[in-house]
Amino acid sequence: MAREAKKNWTVGQRYRRLEDISHTQITEMMEKRSLDNGYPNYHIAPAFGLLNDPNGLCYFNSEHHIFYQWTPVGPVHGMKYWYHLSTKDFIHFTDHGAAIHPDQDHDSHGVYSGGAIVENDKALLFFTGNKRDENWKRIPTQCYATMNTAGEIEKKGIIIENDHYTEHFRDPKVWKQGDDYYMVVGAQTQDLKGAMILYHSQDLSKWEHKGPIKTTHNDFGYMWECPDFFELDGQAVMLFSPQGVSSSNPYDFKNVFSVTYLVGDRVNFSSMELEGEQSIRQPDYGFDFYAPQTYVDDKGRRILYAWVGLPEIDTPSVKHEWAGMLSLPRELRIENGFMVQKALEELEALRGEAIEFTGTLQQPSNSFYLSLDIDIVEFSIELGNSVGDKIEFKVTEDEFTLDRSQMSEIYAEEFGLTRKAPRLSLTQQIEVYVDQSVIEIFINGGKHTMTSRFFIDDLSYLKVSTSLKSTYYPMKSLSGFNLK
Ligand code: FRU
Repeated sequence: MAREAKKNWTVGQRYRRLEDISHTQITEMMEKRSLDNGYPNYHIAPAFGLLNDPNGLCYFNSEHHIFYQWTPVGPVHGMKYWYHLSTKDFIHFTDHGAAIHPDQDHDSHGVYSGGAIVENDKALLFFTGNKRDENWKRIPTQCYATMNTAGEIEKKGIIIENDHYTEHFRDPKVWKQGDDYYMVVGAQTQDLKGAMILYHSQDLSKWEHKGPIKTTHNDFGYMWECPDFFELDGQAVMLFSPQGVSSSNPYDFKNVFSVTYLVGDRVNFSSMELEGEQSIRQPDYGFDFYAPQTYVDDKGRRILYAWVGLPEIDTPSVKHEWAGMLSLPRELRIENGFMVQKALEELEALRGEAIEFTGTLQQPSNSFYLSLDIDIVEFSIELGNSVGDKIEFKVTEDEFTLDRSQMSEIYAEEFGLTRKAPRLSLTQQIEVYVDQSVIEIFINGGKHTMTSRFFIDDLSYLKVSTSLKSTYYPMKSLSGFNLK
C-alpha cells in the first residue's frame, strides 16, 4: 500500500517547490503527521515531507548545526532543500527552517548533499547543485554557500564542474589539513564503478582534481554516495554508501544500498593510495541506515548522524505525509580496525527514572532506552501488541537477528524480513534505543549497530526472555522543533 503512494506521484508533482504548496496543504500534512503514533520523540524528523541525508554537520558559533535533505512537497524524493536545526546540548533545538533553496539554474532540480567546514567567522556549506537537462540527464556541479554568525546564508556558486565522471558526481565533503583543503566527492567512473574522488585546494576556490583514492575496492558497486574521509585515533577512515554491492555471507550488504568503511594508516596524497588498508566493514546491520556523515565538535569528538531510511523504499509513514528521520548522534572511536559507535552522552539527560525488570514490562512508554549486560548464550527481546504483532531481536552464541516478519505493517519484503549480525563476544552490554517506530541496537561494544524502522499498531509490551535483569528508562522528548 505504501509503495502505491510513490508510484502515483508524477515528476511534475515531485519537483514542486516550497512556494508552490499552499498554506492549507501544509496544515493538512502537519495534521496527518501529528496523528501518527509512529512519529518519534527524541529523533530528528521532518514536520512534513521527506527527510533523507544529514548534511552540513558542523560546530559553529557555539552550536552544533545539523542540516538535512528535505523534500517539502510530500513524503517522496523530489525537489530537495537543506533544512536547518541547531543545538547546544542535543536536547533543545532551534528550528531555522529551509536553509538552502534550489533557486539557481545549476541547482534547479535540487540542492543535494554535502558537508561543512568552519573558516574564521563563517561556516562554509558545500553541496551538489543538481540540474536536469531537457532529456532528464543530470548535470551535477559542486557548489558552496557561507553562513555567518547571524545564521544568514549566501550562495557563492559553482566551484567544481564535472569534467571526469558520468552524471553521478555528488556529495562533497571538505576538510582542512595544515594550510590545505581537501574534498572527497562520490562518483561513478567512466567504466561505471563507484569511487571516492579527491580534490585539493589552497584557497577554497580553485580545486585540483587528484582522482579516485586507490584501495583494493576499485570494483565495488556502480556508485559510491555520500563519501566521508577523516582521521581518528591515528587511523584514516573512508566511510561511504556504495550502490550495487552484495555478499554471499549471511550478514553483509543485504539492503537495497549499503554503508561501509575502510580503515587504513593514511592516504598518501602523491600515490593516492590508502596505505595500510584493513578489511572492509559494515557499521550497521539493520534494515534502515544510509548516508552517514561525521564532523568534529568543540570537544574534539567525531560525531556521526545517519539517515534512518533508504532510497527507493517507502515506509508506512508515507500515509501520514512524512518520511525519514535521523539516527541518534553517535560518537566514534577507532579500535582494532573497527569504527566503534556510542550514543552521545548528552542523551543521558533524556532518561527518566530507571526501572529494573525481568521478563515482561506491560505498557511501557514507547520511547525508551534499555540496557542489558549479557554473558549467556541465548535470549531474545520482543516488542509487541495484544494481537501478536511484534518485532524480535534474537541472540544466539554467534549471531544477532532482527526479525521484522511479524509486524502489523510489512514493507520492503523484497529485501528480506530479517537482518543478522555476527556476535563477537559472549559477554557484552547490549543497548537498545526505541522511539515509537525506530529501534537502534548497539551490539559488540558499539562495533556494530542494528538500526531499523518498525511498524506495530498499539505497541503494548516489552519482553526479555531471560532471568537477567534489564534496566529500562523512559526517554523524554527533544524540544524546539516539530515534535509532538
Ligand atoms: C543519498 C543521495 C545523495 C544525494 C541526495 C539527494 O541518499 O542520493 O547521493 O546527494 O541523496 O537527496
